[in-house]
Amino acid sequence: MLLFRISHLLTIPGATSLVASAALPSRHINYGSLHCPEDSSATLATPTYGREGAVFTVCSELLIDAGPRAAYDAVLDFRSYPRWNSFVVDVALPANVSSTPEDVYVGMVMRFTSEGLVGSVNTTSTEVISLLDSPGTSSSSGYLVSAWHYDDGVGGFGSRAEHPNVFVDLGNGSTRYVSYETYYTGLATGITVLLRERLQNQWDVQARDLKEYVEDL
Ligand SMILES: *[C@@H]1O[C@H](CO)[C@@H](O)[C@H](O)[C@H]1NC(C)=O
Ligand SMILES: *[C@@H]1O[C@H](CO)[C@@H](O)[C@H](O)[C@H]1NC(C)=O
Ligand SMILES: *[C@@H]1O[C@H](CO)[C@@H](O)[C@H](O)[C@H]1NC(C)=O
Repeated sequence: MLLFRISHLLTIPGATSLVASAALPSRHINYGSLHCPEDSSATLATPTYGREGAVFTVCSELLIDAGPRAAYDAVLDFRSYPRWNSFVVDVALPANVSSTPEDVYVGMVMRFTSEGLVGSVNTTSTEVISLLDSPGTSSSSGYLVSAWHYDDGVGGFGSRAEHPNVFVDLGNGSTRYVSYETYYTGLATGITVLLRERLQNQWDVQARDLKEYVEDL
């Protein structure tokens, strides 16, 4: 989730996706015990990029009075975002994706439209699904997790960011939802740092929106 595409500012011959070549370090993250850091200078590792080069993390954590599967599915049901999400108000999907969350796949490219970051202007960003729990995964491992990363169009040279959504099964019909995005060093990082407060604010709004939506389903 970033404000500006800077690809037109940069020409990087042979730039390819960093993500494709990076081994997912997701197994190093203990999602089940993950909490938002209390120290605002602390960062959380992401499945694609790990911890190296992390500049800051925005994070929201709350309890949803519904099971983890319902909440997990709602976050991947991008077609329904206009119904509940007041931050990401619209998601454009590939032509062959007609049903969400059913048709969502790792590598799927999306175009997010977001409100509330810069005055009344809508901002857009390209995001790519990087991690899904396979269909039918029960929450027997204690949690379900999905993630997408920002695509700056120049292989991560301008900026990298990734947004994991973690749903921890509390075993009593409630779910601990931890939604975070970690931003990494890059040419465009300075712009993003200036927006950190707005991002955190909209992050909290989005998590509360999800809670309300899922609890009413
Ligand atoms: C849509 O296209 C992508 C990329 O070619 C493919 O991986 C995916 O399975 C397709 N999805 C559907 C529902 O056809
Ligand atoms: C922002 O995007 C939404 C959804 O596409 C649209 O309804 C709204 O009019 C847009 N707002 C502005 C200021 O362009
Ligand atoms: C489930 O457990 C959590 C943490 O112990 C608690 O905060 C929550 O209210 C419980 N939910 C229900 C539905 O009892």
